[in-house]
Amino acid sequence: MDKLLIQGGTPLKGTIRVSGSKNGTLPLMAAAILCHEKVTLRNVPNLTDVRHMGSALEYAGMKTEFLDSTITVETADPSKIHIPYEVSQMMRASIAFIGPLLAKRGKAEVSLPGGCVIGTRPVDLHLKGLSALGVDIRITRGIISAKAGSMKGAHIYLGGSHGSSVLATANVMMAASKAEGRTVIEHAACEPEIVELSLFLKELGVHIEGAGSHCLIVEGVKEYEEKEIDFTVLPDRIEAGTLMAMGSLPGSELTIQNAPRLHLGAVADKLESADVTFEWQAGSCKVIPPSSFRSVDVTTLPYPGFPTDLQAQMMAVLSTASENSTITEKVYPDRFMHIGEFNRMGARIRKEGNTAFITGVDSLSGTRVRASDLRASAGLLIAGLMADNETEVLDIHHLDRGYDNLDKKLNSVGACIERMKDV
Ligand code: EPZ
Repeated sequence: MDKLLIQGGTPLKGTIRVSGSKNGTLPLMAAAILCHEKVTLRNVPNLTDVRHMGSALEYAGMKTEFLDSTITVETADPSKIHIPYEVSQMMRASIAFIGPLLAKRGKAEVSLPGGCVIGTRPVDLHLKGLSALGVDIRITRGIISAKAGSMKGAHIYLGGSHGSSVLATANVMMAASKAEGRTVIEHAACEPEIVELSLFLKELGVHIEGAGSHCLIVEGVKEYEEKEIDFTVLPDRIEAGTLMAMGSLPGSELTIQNAPRLHLGAVADKLESADVTFEWQAGSCKVIPPSSFRSVDVTTLPYPGFPTDLQAQMMAVLSTASENSTITEKVYPDRFMHIGEFNRMGARIRKEGNTAFITGVDSLSGTRVRASDLRASAGLLIAGLMADNETEVLDIHHLDRGYDNLDKKLNSVGACIERMKDV
């Protein structure tokens, strides 16, 4: 296992370029199953989740090749329809194989992805949406088994108790692309990654309206257009938001290249409420830190609300705000494993239900902390950059799931972060 040693108090000065989106890339890799010809995905981030998705594609009878930030995917054995536990338990995104396997091969057997510390990961909306299309779908012994039969378009309400579901929307969209007739998905997810998937499906000749809104319409096709697809992944809005938080630290002069401003409204709004200033020009964002952070109340919501995937990072920033702040988690109410680790660094945060109450402290103190999940590890990295003296972040493999060489990027602008084996 790797760990990071972070020297606190070193301001970031320079420019960092945002990599391609993890949550944009993963569903597109699954969607490649729909294509007769070769699929080339560009601007793909170098992440363990992307490599794991590549392994899952091999189980699905697809041949993948990685070359720098480009992946090519081609069908090798269209008889394969099973994604086993040893792969699907590595990441939630493996559930996104169900839709394309049903649409292209009529069957899918996908082992239920593992839950993780951010909360239980139910699949009821996936089952509801696919069943509405006429899919025979059931879970037996931890495996989701599905048979498409002759799918028919349907009018589906896909909202859950915590709002819309990104990957359930993706799964239903992809299955509906081969259902006979029109499918209307009400309370669809609006995330930019869903818009991107709709653009990919349009390349295959699928007619889709309303992508990015809560009402998504898919007209099924009898056959996809037979052509090679060359598609560029959008920039990662969560990495960009993470860098915006890091660039807000005292003394920093960070410019973030390729930051998707249109996807960062809620993030910029909350950091500006904390007295951070942003100068946007030509796809870049210059971050101007305040002398001290003003306290802010944040509630995470499905897009375009404040992203749950930036909750831990915002908590790190607000831990030293002038007064008291709150963070209410409406997407994953239990996504607070990082609170204990921040408190070990001298933060004063208590959790009541799905709200974290943050009493601002003057400073954090470096110590040994353990990452619990992908975005918590990013939050601990921010805390380490802010803290006095040295912070040791263990289990940093979580960070590598979703950030492309983030420690190297930060060292290129003045951070002092050492990666070493945790023996
Ligand atoms: C996607 O996960 C992202 N992952 C997550 O990012 C992100 O946190 C999440 O969307 C919310 O924005 C990928 O895109 C690979 P959901 P997804 O279904 O689609 C509930 C990261 O750190 N729900 O939108 O699995 C669910 O419990 C990861 O990059 C149901 O109730 O999330 C949650 O409360 C973490 N029933 C809410 O909906 C279902 O059938 C949103 O989950 C499905 C979900």
